[in-house]
Amino acid sequence: MTISMARNDNKDEILRLRLRMTAFLLSHCTLIMHILIYQFQFGGDMCGIIGFIKENCLLDVYKGLELLEYRGYDSVGIAFNYCNQTKIIKQKGRVKDIKPKLNGYTSDIAIGHTRWATHGKPTEKNAHPHKCRYFTIVHNGIIENADSLKEGLIKKGYKFLSETDSEVIAVLLQDCFTPDNILLGIQTALSKLVGSYAVAILSEYTPKTIYLAKKDNPLIIGKGKDFYCFASDSPAIVGYTQNLYRMKDNEIALLSNDTIELFDNNLKKKKTVFHKTYLTVDNINKGSYPTYMLKEIFEIPRAVKSTINYLKKLRDIQNTCNFKDYNSIIFLGCGTAYHAGLFAKSLLDGVAYIHTQCITSDEFLYSSINLNKKTLIIAISQSGETADTIGAIKKAKKSDAKVIAITNVPYSTITEFSDYCLLTLAGVEIAVGATKSYATQLIVLKYLCGKICGSNKLINELLPQEIQQVLTFNRYIKDFVYKNDFENLFFIGKGVDYQTALEGALKVKEISYVYSDASPAGEIKHGPLAMVGAKTLVVCIITKEIYLKGCLNAVNEVKSRGASVLVISPFEKISANQITIPKSLENDRSVLSVIPLQLLSYYLSIKKGLDPDKPRNLAKSVTVG
Ligand code: F6R
Repeated sequence: MTISMARNDNKDEILRLRLRMTAFLLSHCTLIMHILIYQFQFGGDMCGIIGFIKENCLLDVYKGLELLEYRGYDSVGIAFNYCNQTKIIKQKGRVKDIKPKLNGYTSDIAIGHTRWATHGKPTEKNAHPHKCRYFTIVHNGIIENADSLKEGLIKKGYKFLSETDSEVIAVLLQDCFTPDNILLGIQTALSKLVGSYAVAILSEYTPKTIYLAKKDNPLIIGKGKDFYCFASDSPAIVGYTQNLYRMKDNEIALLSNDTIELFDNNLKKKKTVFHKTYLTVDNINKGSYPTYMLKEIFEIPRAVKSTINYLKKLRDIQNTCNFKDYNSIIFLGCGTAYHAGLFAKSLLDGVAYIHTQCITSDEFLYSSINLNKKTLIIAISQSGETADTIGAIKKAKKSDAKVIAITNVPYSTITEFSDYCLLTLAGVEIAVGATKSYATQLIVLKYLCGKICGSNKLINELLPQEIQQVLTFNRYIKDFVYKNDFENLFFIGKGVDYQTALEGALKVKEISYVYSDASPAGEIKHGPLAMVGAKTLVVCIITKEIYLKGCLNAVNEVKSRGASVLVISPFEKISANQITIPKSLENDRSVLSVIPLQLLSYYLSIKKGLDPDKPRNLAKSVTVG
C-alpha cells in the first residue's frame, strides 16, 4: 500500500522532490512544499508580526494584525515611516482599538505587532514596537540572554523603558550600528542574541527599507505585484499574495519598494525563490455573516470540496510512503485536532497488523512510548504552529519514527519538521474555534486511513451537498437554543460518535463558557448521571444502526431525570428534538453530525452576548508549550 505525499528526508531527496514538485506544479497547478529542518524553541510571548512596503499601507498592516489576532490579542502596536522618522502607535487592548489612532497618517512602509503576554504584563510600555534612537523593532520569540545583555548596555548608558526581553534587540542594534555598513551592524547585533526570534527592523538611517531576520521562529515574506510584505504566518498575507518565501534561520532580508535582497549569515547574497501557496482566503471580511465562526461553518461545503479535489489530484504524485513498513501508528494533536486523531484511530481499530494509538501532543511529550523505525506518527494541526505538537514531532524525530503532518497551513513549522505532509484545504480559518478545519481533517484522515487499509472507496463526491442539507438546520438550532435555558450539557455517543461528542463538548465550553462534558452513552449511568437534571441538555449522536439500542437506553435514563434531549442521527423519529442528517457513507457521518454541534455552541455563545470568534483566555494558535 502506498500513498502520494510530499516527503522531506535529506538534501538530495529534497532537491529531487522540489524539482519533481515544481514540474508537477507547473503542469497541474497543484501542491508544492518547501522543506527545511527546523528547531523549535519553547517559551516567550505568543505574538504575531506583520509589515508592508506598499503605497499607503497602514490599513493593510492593521488588517493583517486583525488576521494575526489568533496569535494573541492583549496589546498591539504599529511603527511606520512618517516624514523620514519612525512614528510608533501602540497600546494595551485589542487590535481594533488602534484603528482610530491611525487616522490622519499615511505611510508606504510599516510594521506591526499583536501580543499575548505570557512573560511580562500586557501594558502600553511592554507592547511592541520598541525603539532605541534610530532603530525600531517588532519581535516574536524569546531572548534568553536578555538580562545579561541589558546589564552590559545599561553600563554603557542605554535606558530601557519596558519589562520585555525584546527591547534589548532595538538597543543592541543601535549599539552595534556601523555608519558605513548598516547590514554588518545588524548582523553583529543578531549574533549576540541567544534564543529565538522573528524580527522586523526599521531604521531612520535607511527609512525606505525593512530588515527581517529569523531564528527558530517562522517568518514568511510575500511578493505582490508592486509590493512586498511579511508576517509570522502565511494566513495573514495570503489575501494579498500567494507568492511566498519562508525565511531560513540566520538569513537577513532587506525589503525595499520593489526589490528584495537576501543574505546568509556571512552576509553573502542569496537568491530568493518564491513559491505559490495553496492557502486561500475567500474573503477577509465577514461578508454577510455577523461573525467569522458562522461564516466558516457555512464555508464547510466548499472547504470539503476543495479538500476532496486536492486528494483526487494527490493520487497522481509519485512520492510514496509504504505503510507496510510500519506496525505502530500514533495520531497526535491538541484540542480539536486531537479529536480528529481519535476519529482516525477508530477507523483503524481492528486492523490486525497495526497497533494504533491517539494521544494529545503534550501527553506524548511526557510518555515513555517506545518509538522506532516501525512507528509512524500522524500529527494533526490546523495552524501548523502549535508548540505542543511541534515538540511532539521533535521528540518523535529523535527516534527513527517517521512523521506525516496534516495541516491547513503550507509553509508552517509543522510542514518543515515532518517527513511527509498532507494538506487540508479549508482556507484561512480566523475564528478561534476550529470548524471547517476539523471537517477537512476528517476527510483527509478518512482518505489516509483508507489507504493504510488498502481500501479504494475513499472519496464521497456527494458530501458537500449532504453538508448543505445539514446547514439548513441552522434556524432550527438557533430557535432551539433561544427557546430553552440550559445550565449544563452532556454529549453522548458510542464508538466513533463518542469522538464527535468530545468535540461538541469542547466547542460548547470554548465558545459559550457553558459547562459541558462528553461521555460514552453507556457510561452515563456510571457517574455523569448524577449531574443530569431539569436544566441539562443531553445531545445524543447516533450514526450507526448498531449503536441505536444502547443509545436509546441512555436517552431514556436521562429523560427520566428531567433532562432535555437533542438527537443527531440519520435514523428518523428517535426524539421529538432531532436533527436528521443524510444517510451518507457511514464514515462520513462524523463530518455531518459535528456541524449541528458547532452551530449549537455558536448560538449558546451569541445568546449570552459573547464574541464567539475570540473566546476569553484562548488564542487560535498556541505557540507556547
Ligand atoms: C478548538 C480549538 C483548539 C485547537 C488546538 C490545536 O476549537 O481551536 O482546541 O484545535 O489548539 O490547534 P492546531 O490545530 O492549530 O494545532
